[in-house]
Amino acid sequence: MNPAETSAVKFVDLQAQIRSLQPALSDAIEDVLRRGDFILGEAVTLFETEWARYCGVKHAIGVDSGLSALELALRAARVGEGDEVITQANTFIATVGAIMAVGARPVLVDCDEEGQVNVGAVKRAITKRTKVILPVHLYGKIGEIDWLLELAAKTGARVIEDACQAHGAIYRGHRAGNFGWAAAFSFYPAKNLGAFGDGGMLVTNDDEVAGTVRTLRNYGSKAKYEHVALPLNHRLDTIQAAVLRVKLPQLDGWNARRAYLADAYREHLSGGPVGLPASTQEGRHVYHLFVVQAEQRDALRASLSAQGIETGIHYPIPLHAQPVLGGLGYRLGAFPNAERLAAHSVSLPMYPEMPLSHVERVAKAIAGRGSRREAASA
Ligand SMILES: Cc1ncc(COP(=O)(O)O)c(C=O)c1O
Repeated sequence: MNPAETSAVKFVDLQAQIRSLQPALSDAIEDVLRRGDFILGEAVTLFETEWARYCGVKHAIGVDSGLSALELALRAARVGEGDEVITQANTFIATVGAIMAVGARPVLVDCDEEGQVNVGAVKRAITKRTKVILPVHLYGKIGEIDWLLELAAKTGARVIEDACQAHGAIYRGHRAGNFGWAAAFSFYPAKNLGAFGDGGMLVTNDDEVAGTVRTLRNYGSKAKYEHVALPLNHRLDTIQAAVLRVKLPQLDGWNARRAYLADAYREHLSGGPVGLPASTQEGRHVYHLFVVQAEQRDALRASLSAQGIETGIHYPIPLHAQPVLGGLGYRLGAFPNAERLAAHSVSLPMYPEMPLSHVERVAKAIAGRGSRREAASA
């Protein structure tokens, strides 16, 4: 029997990717060790140029995480106390963490059924204090960003993209990172483009934003030991940049493989007991996560786990129910779509090296639980 048919079905297998890129990864790390330029070294500069070219933007500034990229974008926009930043209630805590770090108030709104921000809800939430609209390209899909840009242009707010899950995603011909005044990417190891630790990138077409963020990430200094702005340290490590440079040429191929696996999931799961993400009409979803909806979510996960299949939940608690955000004063029931996703989402195994036979195993295990109607009435 093929070992793929009996082995555990991992949610993500980072080792498979590392194996596929050896010895290039080790050589790149060795090269940094030889050069000794660990802080803002040559690989950082080269990777910034390559990432900017990949995204089709003018500037890319390497930072130490996606959270830092968001925070520095907000600082560059001079967002602070008394300002409001609108974002969605269904995102990773980092999105609001960045808003809180600069002292602004996160204003939460609901998402649509697929998890992208609801533009009508954003419109209703805009006030005179709204400085930034912060949509999240959740799961790897860009929502109706053109409407948000139109809205922002009318109100004077800026759009900053949280593209931390959307490396290479496309909407109407443009890649993530092209739409906002600035955009943030994360290179957390399990992302579509992942480092061997933390890493992030801010991209922008604005020369002034780029200059400000370069200064802010490096102790507020333009020249060594002369500090002109808040002294923070948010630099991208040279070793991480060297690793990311080896991986970047593979990104489009990896994203294509994710889309292929997503199509395979769709084909095998249609008519079954789980709700499937709609296929994108307006560009390219990069399937950082393949998220389905299950009525009996916890029972489904338990049954898959018993068959050696790992799954995840992104995210089980909507932001307005997070203990740390209780002070914002939102009540349960305020964001029905976000709450429904938190209660019913299951993220299925998804990574480019995943064998097709694993998709088939997952689908078979799910189909064994009957049709959607049966699941709903169970
Ligand atoms: C939507 C979103 N925003 C922000 C972040 C923060 O990125 P990092 O973990 O690199 O700080 C992440 C990733 O973890 C994310 O998924």
